[in-house]
Formats: sequence, structure tokens, C-alpha cells
Amino acid sequence: MAELIDGKAIAAGIRADVATAVAAFTAQTGYVPTLATVLVGDDAGSAYYVRAKHRACKSAGMKSVGHELSAETTQAELESLLKTLNDDDSIDGILVQLPLPKHIDEQRIIDLVAIEKDVDGFNVQNIGALAMRGREPRFSPATPLGIMRLLSEIGVDLNGKNVAMIGRSNLVGTPTTLLLANANATVTLCHSRTRNLAEHTRLADIVISAVGRPNLITGEMLKEGCIVIDVAINEVADETAKRGYRLVGDVAFESAEKVAAHITPVPGGVGPMTIAMLLVNTLKAAQLRRATT
Ligand code: GUN
Repeated sequence: MAELIDGKAIAAGIRADVATAVAAFTAQTGYVPTLATVLVGDDAGSAYYVRAKHRACKSAGMKSVGHELSAETTQAELESLLKTLNDDDSIDGILVQLPLPKHIDEQRIIDLVAIEKDVDGFNVQNIGALAMRGREPRFSPATPLGIMRLLSEIGVDLNGKNVAMIGRSNLVGTPTTLLLANANATVTLCHSRTRNLAEHTRLADIVISAVGRPNLITGEMLKEGCIVIDVAINEVADETAKRGYRLVGDVAFESAEKVAAHITPVPGGVGPMTIAMLLVNTLKAAQLRRATT
């Protein structure tokens, strides 16, 4: 039976360490690390995540400033806000919650975030540096960093390990593949056009899924003793649940836990790590901007 990877506990430890470091930073410099968030439109899920990010900043002793804009906000208005935040010396990190409404050119907005404030690590300069040997991005995206941290917390040596990364999104699959390759893993990036997914997952020492399809990965697709990291959060109807649905990942947990050695739960696995690593990045931004490291 697989051991659970307790992302909630690991994230709590990281957040406590960040809080200690923030207190030391503020005592030394007089500055309070400050995150600006930008939320466009009224998607309930995005609003929930942004609120959670503000709460996390507060509990770590950081400041956060929220900008909530209507779904009708124009490209020019959003660009103007970003220029203001880039120029505002009191802001260390800028997070534009994704996805943006369809009429907005999302890539252009992401690339407008000043490189030294890009705590999400989605700016093409940061991702480009991550993709090149011998280059060091200033920031890497939070969820991929969280996945790497979970693997290191359970003591995995990634050197030469086979990893099946399922899903090639800009937010998770692609940057995680790059981080893993930089850590000397052999990564197979699987996606919707991959033929016979099970052929790849059965060879993998580590299977990471970030697709958004319940029961995509079952125990019979896994190698005995592998590690399973389930990044997805899917709502499935459940009449017995108070809200009428429950949260599941991409992995059929009950069959997978019989084969894997380690597995993340959903919720409580990768999810809490994303916010913890955002705090790590925001503190790093403040430290680099105020040159204390
Ligand atoms: N939407 C879903 N995940 C993320 C994330 O990590 N950062 C931002 N900005 N938006 C998201």
C-alpha cells in the first residue's frame, strides 16, 4: 500500500520557514515583501484561489494588494495597470491570475510583467531561461516548483529516473518537464496525441499527471513501487457530499495506491504546495530587489 505524500503538512512547514525569513528580512531592511494580484472577471474558482493567496501572504507576514477588474476590462486598461505595478517600487511580486478573459491577449500581458517581479515565472524570459542549458531563470512557476519539492521531501534522487509527465500545459506540464530534465531525470512528455499512454506510464519510476480527467491513470498502468504525483483537481458529482460534488485528481486513487510506493492525495497533495512556493518566490523577489542575498 502506497505511503501518502502529505502536501498539506509539507506546505505548512515551508510557509512557517518563509514567515521566519520574512520577519528577519523586515527586521534587517525595514521592508515588508509585497505581492500584487490582478484578477479579471468573476470566475468563482479564480477568485477563491486569489483570496487564498492573500490569506497566505498575511500569515507569512507579507503584504498583498488586490486589483479586481471587471470582465469587460480592455487590453489597454490591463496593460496600463501592469505598467503602474511594474513602476511601483513598493511592489515586489506581481501575479496575474489565469486564465484571463478570451478577448485579452494573455501572452502579451504575461510578458509585460517585469522580470524581477515575475513571481509566477510565466514570462517568456523566465521560461526561456529554464529551457536553455547554462541559463538560470530568476523564477520558476510555483506548481512545478511544488512538485519538485514534494519529490525531494520524500528523498527521491532524480538522476536517471524515468518520469512520465502527462499534460503539456504552460502552467504545469512544460515547465515541470524542464525542471525534471535539469535535475537529470529522463522525461517523457505525454499528451492528448500520445499513443498508448500505458506503455509510457508502465516504464516510469515517477508518474505526474496534470490533465483534468478523472480516472485517466489506473493501477494497472503503473509500475510496482513507482511514485504518483496527481496535480489535477476535478469536480465529480457526488450526492452524498454536502456541496453535491467531490474533488478527485486524474488518478484512480484506490487502484493506484495498491501499486505505487508513494502517492499524493487530492485534495491535500500538490494543491497546497502551489501557494507555499508562491510565497517562496515572493520572498526571493523582495530579497533580490533589496539586494540582501
Ligand atoms: N491559474 C491556475 N494556476 C495558476 C497559477 O499558478 N498562477 C496564476 N497566476 N494563475 C493560475
